[in-house]
Amino acid sequence: MNTQPIGIFDSGVGGTSIWTAIHALMPHENTLYLADSAHAPYGTKSKEAIIALSKKNTEYLMGQGCKIIVVACNTATTNAITVLRETYNIPFIGIEPAIKTAALQTKTQTIGILATKGTLSSELFSKTSGAFTGSIKIIEQVGEGIVELIEDGKLFSKEMKALLKLYLNPMITANIDYLVLGCTHYPYLMPLLLELLPKHVKIIDSGEAVARQTKAVLVKHDLLNLQTKKAQNRFFTNGNTRVIATLLGEKYKVDYLNF
Ligand code: DGL
Repeated sequence: MNTQPIGIFDSGVGGTSIWTAIHALMPHENTLYLADSAHAPYGTKSKEAIIALSKKNTEYLMGQGCKIIVVACNTATTNAITVLRETYNIPFIGIEPAIKTAALQTKTQTIGILATKGTLSSELFSKTSGAFTGSIKIIEQVGEGIVELIEDGKLFSKEMKALLKLYLNPMITANIDYLVLGCTHYPYLMPLLLELLPKHVKIIDSGEAVARQTKAVLVKHDLLNLQTKKAQNRFFTNGNTRVIATLLGEKYKVDYLNF
């Protein structure tokens, strides 16, 4: 069982940012990554649709013998992880925008969050952010169109830069000192974000925290892979294999899967 892969899924290519953190922390773990790019973006879909797609992804990964499932998607986590945990007998790790980290550290009492509509309108998110409203100002911005451009392989395009300017400028004017990335596609925007944001604004992404949490849960369930041989890392997408391969620096083979 311990040599079985860690299953990771996202609505598309973004969750590879989480895979990278997991692989860096646990290089001997076998992994299986599933990108449901044919159905991206999840962020504009109803809660029911997000749950149905998340179940389908989970069942595929469980069918492949995965020992744990990492929901490498804020939108799927905030809308579906409760149902997934109730439905399947396997440990789940989710990812949520790291509002708390930013809220506890802000000096300007103002933080920005960029996430999908599905995440920002979810109950789970309102609970987390609700705990801080009153003490600090949270500027929520839907990153409409960003996931689509990344899925299209237009990460560093003119359109992307224009969208980011539109979304970040009101936050800059409001004097944020933290920007929380609430979507696993967004860490790939880092060079553009660094260019567009003032130097003092810190950017928070939860990839490493998710990797640490995954390891802790594997240890707790006695599922850590103790072998030292090279891990097997497999990537599947029902979209464009080239986009993922490029994001992974052309170091891994990505296979097309019709699902
Ligand atoms: N990577 C997903 C997330 O973290 C993108 C959601 C979408 O497909 O809209 O929310």
